[in-house]
Amino acid sequence: MKDASTNSNAKRMAGEAAAELVKSGMVVGLGTGSTVAWTIQRLGARVREEGLELLGVPTSFQSEHLAIASGIKLTSLNQHPILDLAIDGADQVDADLFVIKGGGAAHTREKVVSCSAKRFVIVADESKFVQRLSRPVPVEVLAFATRLVERRLQSLGGSPVLRQAMRKDGPVITDNGNLVMDVDFGSIQDPRALAAKISPIPGVVEHGIFDNVDELYLARADGVEKIRRSR
Ligand code: A5P
Repeated sequence: MKDASTNSNAKRMAGEAAAELVKSGMVVGLGTGSTVAWTIQRLGARVREEGLELLGVPTSFQSEHLAIASGIKLTSLNQHPILDLAIDGADQVDADLFVIKGGGAAHTREKVVSCSAKRFVIVADESKFVQRLSRPVPVEVLAFATRLVERRLQSLGGSPVLRQAMRKDGPVITDNGNLVMDVDFGSIQDPRALAAKISPIPGVVEHGIFDNVDELYLARADGVEKIRRSR
């Protein structure tokens, strides 16, 4: 088992390595979380030190504020509908590069931004890499539809739990003003098939299963391994 500092070093290695993919003139999707935070800060350093010119599209209030603090200029999908690259973290990733995201409740914007990019790169430490996805799947839900969505997810074999806030009474409210359910499906045999069953439920805004990853930057003890999608 890794200790917290080893994990943090690994996140930094993966995050900073992916920042080298960015070339001047690119428009880049900036993901959310503690690993891609290293990417954003490294990009800020490259702006200051090398005069790197990029425009970022943030996926959350967190990444927006960090990008601004790091000196990265921002734009929007309305102004730049097609991004050169998107870089983001993950909560779990398997060998086929199916990913579960949404541990920070940002997966809806992360999916929109990553699907707008020509290339989508995930940065992660080794603890996220699994044979088969098994983490509860985050599902962003309209508050109005909570009970219907709950029943439909249960009929798919899931156990939904409404995510509670840590430093606020009551549930987590996403950057989009919705709620999040974490849905335990046990070990997920076919992530794409499960995703296809969750998406059409009325009231579901977006789920955290991603099948659009092109490349994984995985920090291992001896360096960052780059794994391309083969499927
Ligand atoms: C945000 O909702 C998530 O999808 C994050 O991208 C993910 O939780 C990142 O995890 P780390 O904080 O471990 O990088």
